[in-house]
Amino acid sequence: MHAFIVIYGSHYGNTEKYARAIAAALGCPALSAKEVRTADLAGKTVVFGGGVYAGSICGWKRTAKKIAKAKAPRLVLFVCGLADPAKQKTRDEARMLFEKKCAAAKDAPVFCLRGGIDYGKLKFGHRTMMAMLMQYLKRKKDPSPEDAQLLATYGKAVDFYDESTAKAVIDAAKSL
Ligand SMILES: Cc1cc2nc3c(=O)[nH]c(=O)nc-3n(C[C@H](O)[C@H](O)[C@H](O)COP(=O)(O)O)c2cc1C
Repeated sequence: MHAFIVIYGSHYGNTEKYARAIAAALGCPALSAKEVRTADLAGKTVVFGGGVYAGSICGWKRTAKKIAKAKAPRLVLFVCGLADPAKQKTRDEARMLFEKKCAAAKDAPVFCLRGGIDYGKLKFGHRTMMAMLMQYLKRKKDPSPEDAQLLATYGKAVDFYDESTAKAVIDAAKSL
């Protein structure tokens, strides 16, 4: 087995919690995308996880650049979001967002883990974005069950965190 490193991009700690659990299982450090250096990746199996934020993955842009510079590390990727991981659309979007910024992501396994949201703790920009999304969903003619769930939980705290789902990421990293 190769040495591991876990990198995360997280605004509110959900992804970081998964990353720390994965790192503990792999016996390696978990570093934020801001603090990790290109040299930290050399020769390692890299596990990256980032929170999904309306068409982008927190920390992925800067990490993808470091991955491109580092010597061919093995990659395992995961997103943490509110969208249902059982849906093909959720998984396709995660893969698309990873591949958009990094050619090496094409060969990497991608996992979707579920996080949470606490509207009371959102930063101003994020609160504004969610308010705009709710306006859009309210006007939608044929809302999906997921849309309805978002509308029903708007303003509250929702927590889908489930550490058992991180096992697939750990197993994938160990198998590389
Ligand atoms: C402004 C905003 C946009 C979001 N966009 C998405 C999204 O497009 N898809 C999704 O599944 N979750 C989305 N979420 C939910 C977050 O991904 C979720 O809260 C996740 O747990 C955040 O992880 P973090 O705490 O590690 O940053 C969004 C949350 C906010 C506040």
